Amino acid sequence: MSRIVVVSNRVPVPQGNAGQAGGLAVALLGLMQRRGGLWFGWSGAVTEAPAPPGLTQRGGVGYATIDLTEAEHRGYYTGYSNGVLWPMLHSLPHLMSFRRQDLDVYRRVNRRFADNLVPLLRPDDRIWVHDYHLMSLPGALRQRGVLGPTGFFLHVPFPAPEAAAVAPGIRGLVQDVLACDLLGFQTATDRDNFAATAVGFAGAVRTDDNFVELGGRPVRLGIFPAEIAAPEFAATAAAQMETEPYRLLARSMRGQALLLGVDRLDPTKGLPERLEAFRRVVARRTARSLTMLQIAAPSREDVAAYRRLRQEIDAAAGAINSEFGEPDWTPLRLLARPQTRDTVAGFMRQARVGIVTPIRDGMNLVAKEYIAAQDPADPGVLVLSRFAGAAAQLDSALLVNPHDAEGMAEAICAALDMPLAERRMRWQAAWAAIAGASPEGWGQDFLRALAPETLDRMPMA
Ligand code: G6P
Repeated sequence: MSRIVVVSNRVPVPQGNAGQAGGLAVALLGLMQRRGGLWFGWSGAVTEAPAPPGLTQRGGVGYATIDLTEAEHRGYYTGYSNGVLWPMLHSLPHLMSFRRQDLDVYRRVNRRFADNLVPLLRPDDRIWVHDYHLMSLPGALRQRGVLGPTGFFLHVPFPAPEAAAVAPGIRGLVQDVLACDLLGFQTATDRDNFAATAVGFAGAVRTDDNFVELGGRPVRLGIFPAEIAAPEFAATAAAQMETEPYRLLARSMRGQALLLGVDRLDPTKGLPERLEAFRRVVARRTARSLTMLQIAAPSREDVAAYRRLRQEIDAAAGAINSEFGEPDWTPLRLLARPQTRDTVAGFMRQARVGIVTPIRDGMNLVAKEYIAAQDPADPGVLVLSRFAGAAAQLDSALLVNPHDAEGMAEAICAALDMPLAERRMRWQAAWAAIAGASPEGWGQDFLRALAPETLDRMPMA
């Protein structure tokens, strides 16, 4: 069986930060441990004296990481990845801030990834590149003579061609990523938008739903929605009911309905719009009948738009509480600190309404986790943005437009008033959509599609 080589910006090296690795990272590690694997990426360190690439072996998986210099971090990560690609890919062009040198550094860092990775590769490796930080890497690997099966998965959305075109440099990046054998997306919309961009701007030809060709070479396009381990998450959520954080929160509720939001503090998450919707809900409900807990974990604080968002959210939360609060009641509790995954699972189980209303999101696993955390006998209601990838699977949720605060407020009120029979019906449909899938299955599906046998069956030009 061929070795799996995963390349991503962040690497879940099991030292200190092991507990923070997300579900998908943990699933990939499981697959790699079984077959032998190498995980390559950024060490997380920013230094003027980058150490030579370190290689650590743990539990059957090798971890190789490189440091970034200050200038590389600013140009590649903060500047082009998070200041241009992230807003463009989420259709928020007004948040883009482009500097030509950042694009140059992005390309250079992608080449440096390739230079450091190539000596570690074996001829029969299956290479799996992750996310928007590394769109140039497949092209750089091919230029360095890497011929083996190479796949790329985009965790975030891909917008329509006119929206993609606003990012300077995108044509070259699309050509570079098309050096892969397999490109994976979260939804059919993302796949089709990418294909249309590849055809419109990068000279590709779409031969059928699942293939484009560039220069006569076929590239397979696949849909691989990211999944969670729903039964395990359900068990964690139920077990949390016996813990202190769960009990303290429950006691403080004093019978009120809990509304819950769990996000990174990111402009794509629709937080100002959500708080406006909540303000409208509070205005029309009785005092002390509900409380919203919004967890907003700080993220990418070196990007100006993220710092401005923090101020905006703090101000909006303060305004709601000063306008509607009572001496013994605070309608909105805002925590700008991450909480552990287990604690959040318990809070989800306790919440009557889960509010997941991103402006745009690749998948949004919080939506799936909220469903998994519910008590099947008395489930809460998910209010979900129709622009999250998860909406394609969780269409029994109350789907909302995150730009329509009034519409969201109505949906939240409908969720609060929903009779048990309807809550159960909607929850059962959502559970059926996620219960059988798993992160391992997601990884296996992608790697199977990337297997040489599968690729050999591709139509030749
Ligand atoms: C999103 C991206 C990931 C990224 C994560 C956290 O989920 O798809 O690639 O790692 O956000 O962001 P950060 O910039 O802290 O890595």
